[in-house]
Amino acid sequence: MKTLSPTTKRLVEILSDGEYHSGSTIGNMLNITRTAVWKCVGQLEKYGIKIDSITGKGHCLKQPLILLDADKIKSGINKSAAQSPIQIDVLSTISSTNDYWSHPSISQSAPWHICLAEQQTAGKGRLGRIWVSPFGANVYLSCAWTFTKDMSELAGLSLVVGLAIVHALEKYGLKQDLKIKWPNDILLDNKKLAGILIEIHAQAHGISQVIIGIGLNINKPFQTNVDISQNCTSLEDMTAKYHDRNKIIGLLLNKLFASITKFNSHGLAPFIKEWHTYDYLVGNKISFMNQQKKVVGVAMGIDAHGYLLLQNSKGKQIAYSAGDASLLRKVK
Ligand code: BTN
Repeated sequence: MKTLSPTTKRLVEILSDGEYHSGSTIGNMLNITRTAVWKCVGQLEKYGIKIDSITGKGHCLKQPLILLDADKIKSGINKSAAQSPIQIDVLSTISSTNDYWSHPSISQSAPWHICLAEQQTAGKGRLGRIWVSPFGANVYLSCAWTFTKDMSELAGLSLVVGLAIVHALEKYGLKQDLKIKWPNDILLDNKKLAGILIEIHAQAHGISQVIIGIGLNINKPFQTNVDISQNCTSLEDMTAKYHDRNKIIGLLLNKLFASITKFNSHGLAPFIKEWHTYDYLVGNKISFMNQQKKVVGVAMGIDAHGYLLLQNSKGKQIAYSAGDASLLRKVK
């Protein structure tokens, strides 16, 4: 678990105009020696950030890069959405932002405690999969939240988080048709743009700490050897431009706080209608893996708990609380 030094962050800001800056100009601006400038350049290169360094010309970032910035994110947060204090911690690298609170030195220090990282070295996806997490490109966000009701009432939370992501992207101005594949894959043009991993830690007296992990693909990574699946996409892929993640995260947190607060008071009921408008699977023939068993049927939407409804070949509807769905034939 590491953070970038303020000097290295300032170096990125200087280089983010895409121009060449000499070592001595940078040194003067940051009040450090040229050797110290080289050290900072080296630190960034260790994370895979490509910097062009030419004798007599200076240093230049080969691709745009705006680092995560807690103050910028906070300035986009609407106090009425959060209602309670927020803590935002930004790291340069961590194994997984979902594991932040498992570190002995970290405890949840605000009702909304957010951890963001530029890079995850062991990013986790659902069902034991890996979540590829290159430096500086995407959003790797985890939010710790304390839930005081029965754990069974948490079913449906991931659907609510999925809707919050979709609404934040719409508010950001994304015009393309976003869909949610049950339970929580955000799809753009049939490709995966975002995923959610919710982990629950039971605590004393029926209180649970819920960790809501969100991975959102935003920009092209610096590293060319990053193995991102063919079925994934990013905002930059879809819009052919670079995006400032801080702005998107601010919008995302506003929607997330407001939706979770509503879910805490009213459960899933107020979200069911809007879920149907984003349902990627409904009406289509799907293959569904549940506890190592494969079933095929037609997706019929969700029930009041947020379980997936599947109609089998005999016309019988079965509700599933967990599993992995894939589309066999697109009818709708
Ligand atoms: C999935 O679709 O399989 C879930 C992906 C969840 C990825 C996010 S990135 C932030 C948080 N930290 C992790 O290790 N995983 C989640």
